[in-house]
Amino acid sequence: MDKLVIEGGVRLVGTTEVSGSKNSLLPILAATLLTKDKCVIRNAPDLRDTLSMLRILRFLGLNTDFKENIITIRPNGLEKYEAPYKLVSTMRASFCVLGPLLARYKKAKVSLPGGCIIGVRPVDLHLKGLSKLGARLQIKEGYVFAEAKRLQGDHIYLGGPFGSSVLATGNVMMASTLARGTTVIESAACEPEVVDLARFLIKMGAKIKGEGSPTIEIQGVKELHGVDYEIIPDRIEAATLIMAAAVTRGEVLVKRARAEHLTAVLEKLKDVGVTLKNVKDGIFVKGTQKKFKPFDVVTLPYPGFPTDAQAQFMTLMSITEGISVITEKIYPDRFMHVAELNRMGAQIKREGPYAVVHGIKFLSGAPVMASDLRASAGLVLAGLVARGKTEISRIYHLDRGYEQLDAKLKKLGARIERVKE
Ligand code: UD1
Repeated sequence: MDKLVIEGGVRLVGTTEVSGSKNSLLPILAATLLTKDKCVIRNAPDLRDTLSMLRILRFLGLNTDFKENIITIRPNGLEKYEAPYKLVSTMRASFCVLGPLLARYKKAKVSLPGGCIIGVRPVDLHLKGLSKLGARLQIKEGYVFAEAKRLQGDHIYLGGPFGSSVLATGNVMMASTLARGTTVIESAACEPEVVDLARFLIKMGAKIKGEGSPTIEIQGVKELHGVDYEIIPDRIEAATLIMAAAVTRGEVLVKRARAEHLTAVLEKLKDVGVTLKNVKDGIFVKGTQKKFKPFDVVTLPYPGFPTDAQAQFMTLMSITEGISVITEKIYPDRFMHVAELNRMGAQIKREGPYAVVHGIKFLSGAPVMASDLRASAGLVLAGLVARGKTEISRIYHLDRGYEQLDAKLKKLGARIERVKE
């Protein structure tokens, strides 16, 4: 197992580049099950989650090839429709194969993904949507058994207790592309990754309107064809790189960061005192030399502040003198990083879905443990600003969703090493 060793205190300077979006890629890979043609996906990040999804697709009878950020998928005629527990449990996004399998083969058997470290994470909205499309669903022995001769479009409300759901919107949208008639999804997720998936499907021949708004309309078609598609840059990786520059008070050009996907994050950083400039192909960050100003964050569905940037902002709050508050409205238990940041000297108290951060002058390096993907990113930022040495173990979490983050930071001057434990 690898760990990261970071000597903090270096101001990051230079140019870096954002990789392709993980959260776009995973459902888009599932969408390739909707056609019998070849699909090519460009700008695919080389991540552990990418490899997990490709493993599932191979299990389902697709040939996959992945070289230099280009994925080529070719069905091999096997038409398998069962996704087993050992594959689905490694990554929740793999539950997204359910909609495409059902639409294409009329039946599917997909393992329920189970809980994860950031909370319960149910899939009831996925199931509600597919059942509204006419699927007969049964849950047996930890699996969803789904069947439908041909799905039938309907009016579907997909709002849940925490608002819209990104992957449920994707799953139902994919299934309805091949359904009879028109499907309207209300309270659809508006995330850029949902828009990217819709554009991929439209390029395959699907008829979709309203992507990026809470009402998406899909007119079913008989079949979809192969595509060659480039996915969008990863807005959460962009946010993390921008934050790395900001917390170290550095000067970094983050190429391919798209300001239009990052409004809530950039607004907060400006409030704190970071100078940001939109340039032709990205965002230029100039960390202020003045004191950061304390601030509050409430995570919400897009275009609200992303839960996936919450841990990174908690690190910034930790070194911002004064009191800042985080309200986590998507995953009320997503606070595993609190205890680790406190080991580095941070003063954070968690009460239910709130974290109250008493910002201090500096963090001290310490051995800490990564618990999930974004918590790991928060700890990396903490290591970059802390005095002394930070050792982050279990960084396989980081490798699930960041393409060579340590190498990118090193190129900007960070003293960061990956070592075998
Ligand atoms: C996606 C992202 C993840 C991000 C999350 C929220 C991918 C691969 N992952 O996850 O990085 O943190 O969006 O922006 O795109 N919920 C239900 N019932 C459901 C589904 C979800 O109650 O059937 C709840 C969840 O527990 C959570 C909220 O809805 O509280 C939003 O979750 P959701 O948008 O579904 O997250 P994912 O799509 O799994």
